Amino acid sequence: MRILIIGGGRFLGRAFAEEATAAGHDVTVFNRGRSSADPPGVRVIHGDREVPADLERLARAAPGWDLVVDTCGYSPAVVSRSARVLADRAAAYLFISSVNAYARWPAEPITAASPKFACDPEASEGEYGPLKAGCERAVERHFPGRTITLDAGLILGPHENRGRLTWWLTRMARGAGPVLAPADPKRLIAPIDARDLARFGLACAASGSHGAFAVPGSGTESMQDLLEACVAATGSAAHLVWAPDAFLVEHGVEQWTGLPLWAVADGEFSAIWDIDSSPARAAGLEWRPIAETVRDTWAWLRTGEGAAAALPDEEGRIDGHGLPPARERQLLALLG
Ligand SMILES: NC(=O)c1ccc[n+]([C@@H]2O[C@H](COP(=O)([O-])OP(=O)(O)OC[C@H]3O[C@@H](n4cnc5c(N)ncnc54)[C@H](OP(=O)(O)O)[C@@H]3O)[C@@H](O)[C@H]2O)c1
Repeated sequence: MRILIIGGGRFLGRAFAEEATAAGHDVTVFNRGRSSADPPGVRVIHGDREVPADLERLARAAPGWDLVVDTCGYSPAVVSRSARVLADRAAAYLFISSVNAYARWPAEPITAASPKFACDPEASEGEYGPLKAGCERAVERHFPGRTITLDAGLILGPHENRGRLTWWLTRMARGAGPVLAPADPKRLIAPIDARDLARFGLACAASGSHGAFAVPGSGTESMQDLLEACVAATGSAAHLVWAPDAFLVEHGVEQWTGLPLWAVADGEFSAIWDIDSSPARAAGLEWRPIAETVRDTWAWLRTGEGAAAALPDEEGRIDGHGLPPARERQLLALLG
């Protein structure tokens, strides 16, 4: 396929570019050339999707594409403009959305019947989840019946730019001794590897499976599987000290960010990992083991690029994720 990726330089867009070139597709990336080096083996067009003249230049740059992959759409007005300009230049449009587009998640599970936020497809202001739902509508309006919408769950893997798995790996690598781990060790989590998400999207496009899919991870592995894989990958002599939910809540550890990927199993986050993957599975979604995601992310973190991208701040946090070392020591002492 001839594929145009809007974005393509960073985390998920990069995974799409790498998976697509590895599969022999002809890939063009369109971005401003600011965030990162473009992946090898792709054609590059630099421009800003928010600048109409740049979009027009993009549309004229090639005879057309079989697929547009849009990994960096956050504003319906902006996404609508891209989709409108490309509507007669591309056969299909794959939009990367989020489970945040569902109106009742994470307090309630996501199924095929779950409602999304109502958001104007030309909106330009609002919150992340409703805006993502508006972006989805904008694409559907310009590519009716030719849209693939992937409502991604939490994404991990090499090139992660959020500080979630990268913080855990950095924490384990910091040294021997106790590491505060969020209960319950057996609680199942469902992050998805960016490369699995990309492979699934490309397979949908190749087979003409249009429509919207919620795309979480397998949900068959636990927090303990994730953290033990981090210990193993880094070769750390850390040992995990599991703190109960009530203890962490009582001491003000922030769910989701304080200890990345941790959320208590009731209240506002009660269904955070409860996302029905069966429609995506039926359409061909497959997952690699979490240990492979962890190993490959650690290998990337040890490259100069990875180390620079996941640099802890003076408090030992990465992009607002993780616990400062002094705070962790304090909590471990209280646990006894
Ligand atoms: N992380 C998660 O766990 C998670 C979960 C669910 C869904 N998602 C979704 O996954 C996607 C993440 O995408 P991503 O990792 O590829 O990163 P991203 O940060 O959304 O996209 C960055 C890419 O887009 C380019 N870009 C940004 N603004 C641009 C503009 N105005 N014009 C042209 N190019 C522009 C950047 O290059 P330049 O800066 O060089 O232009 C870069 O290549 C998002 O859509 C997010 O909503 C993420």
